[in-house]
Amino acid sequence: MVDAWNEIADWFAERQRAGSAMHEFARDILFEQLPTELRGLRVLDIGCSQGLLTRAAAERGAKALGIDPAERMIEHALAAEAETPTGAEFAVDDGCALATVGSASKDWVIAGLSLNNVPDLAACLLAVRRVLVPGGGLVAVIPHPCFEAPHASWTGDRDSPRRVVGDYATEGFWRSDNPQGVRRAGNRHRKLSTYVAALIEHGFALEAMTEPAPDEGVVAEQPRRAGLPPFLVLRARPDVNGTAAVAPRA
Ligand SMILES: C[S@@+](CC[C@H](N)C(=O)[O-])C[C@H]1O[C@@H](n2cnc3c(N)ncnc32)[C@H](O)[C@@H]1O
Repeated sequence: MVDAWNEIADWFAERQRAGSAMHEFARDILFEQLPTELRGLRVLDIGCSQGLLTRAAAERGAKALGIDPAERMIEHALAAEAETPTGAEFAVDDGCALATVGSASKDWVIAGLSLNNVPDLAACLLAVRRVLVPGGGLVAVIPHPCFEAPHASWTGDRDSPRRVVGDYATEGFWRSDNPQGVRRAGNRHRKLSTYVAALIEHGFALEAMTEPAPDEGVVAEQPRRAGLPPFLVLRARPDVNGTAAVAPRA
């Protein structure tokens, strides 16, 4: 799957550079869940691609590190940073291990459209717990599991579009057959309850869960999306009063 992300990295970077309302919307609804003032806070961005969120966090004053297992994505992030420095740093790493990130070294972990790409959600949540300081938090935006399930499609006419979802209960890896779609690189579908249950099981307290309506930019780009939230946003913190059902890795 990492190979597939390396393969589409140039296309993906160019798409974001040209301006993608969906990615900008995903960024904005993620930052709504973070403190307005990030100055001095240490932020880790999991699955950073070319660094859209990492660099946005750095611009808000955070000491930001973006990681991604796709080397080509990190090359794009470093190139963007060289062109317009924000202070963001980048490393090749896997969200299921976070081997380059020290324990208890981050105030916030953010994951924009990347938890749906990690093959092992449990390993990723354990790694996130390990790198967060006490009181730190995780904010994740994922394609809405209910409406962006495998091979979801549209029916109805222009004035009354309807989303067709047939494979909600089928969890696992799938690839979009849309040659212009990001998810042609592959994607791991999990039910909404799987995400929430995994957070609870791994000792996180869910603080916020939102399903923001698409903004004007998204609707202008894709009018059919007007009535449905394309993303689910989760904010959670390791529960200081509870213990993880599964012990964090040393
Ligand atoms: C849709 S892109 C993320 C976009 C980016 N966060 C943004 O908001 O612009 C998904 C990213 O997840 C990365 N990814 C795939 N497997 C991963 C893993 N095991 N750990 C962390 N990131 C992974 C891909 O390489 C890709 O860059």
